[in-house]
Amino acid sequence: MTAGIIDGKTFAARIRTEVAAHVARLGAATGTAPGLAVVLVGEDPASQVYVRSKHAATVEAGMASFEHRLPAATTQAELLALIGRLNADPAVHGILVQLPLPAHLNADAVINAIDPAKDVDGFHISNVGLLATGQKAMVPCTPLGCLMLLRDRLGSLAGAEAVVIGRSNIVGKPMAQLLLRDSATVTVAHSRTRDLAAVCRRADILVAAVGRPEMITGEMVKAGATVIDVGINRVERDGKARLVGDVDFASVAAVAGAITPVPGGVGPMTIACLLANTLTAFCRSRGLPEPEGLTA
Ligand code: GUN
Repeated sequence: MTAGIIDGKTFAARIRTEVAAHVARLGAATGTAPGLAVVLVGEDPASQVYVRSKHAATVEAGMASFEHRLPAATTQAELLALIGRLNADPAVHGILVQLPLPAHLNADAVINAIDPAKDVDGFHISNVGLLATGQKAMVPCTPLGCLMLLRDRLGSLAGAEAVVIGRSNIVGKPMAQLLLRDSATVTVAHSRTRDLAAVCRRADILVAAVGRPEMITGEMVKAGATVIDVGINRVERDGKARLVGDVDFASVAAVAGAITPVPGGVGPMTIACLLANTLTAFCRSRGLPEPEGLTA
């Protein structure tokens, strides 16, 4: 079997067009636009690329983008003071602090200082708790993007065997919660899991979020499974820099029913969902109906 390719790039473009249309309509009705503040501390090269892409996408959707680039030596108190100002700013509906933060800063304390209603990353403990208890939450962007791709491909996820590889707060844990909420039977595997291959082979839905290049190979995948590759790993192949996922594309595509490529799979969905979350935060802050199909 040769797997169908799940085209996240095209799907994400559609979401971005939809978000932009809502922003234009709401702008005409309210005279205001959703605003997203992105905070970057230090000069991590990968984070700089992500922050630039987020800014460009925000502006393209017709939203206001507020970028705050702080030096690596920024203190916890200075960062918390900025978060306080953004929490109080009525033009800011979404706040994102790019991770990882420099080691001297306490990321948990910073994230939990964000107004949960403006927490478009869905990392605040209130949003984590709301998601886990099935209440209305801000949902982390990457898992939300994966969920949208899965629902689009499979329709109902009820009763499906889902295996999430990776237990990070950013992807693995919220992904498991979302799959559970859609009534999948969910297993979370990780670096200490015994016989990972056997666990993976149970999966109708396999989500790989481990950060290890091409670790999931064809013999670990059930025939016909839907495989979502969250990994973005920079490697050198034949003397050239390349981006590869956590999934060995060639061997898995020969077995799976459907697979996301890297690049062009989950990556573009993350930014699209950030815009969707910012729009959702704007609507909630004003008591407006939330656009359909853009939240979990
Ligand atoms: N670093 C890597 N992924 C993310 C993300 O989704 N949000 C934030 N804030 N930082 C990240």
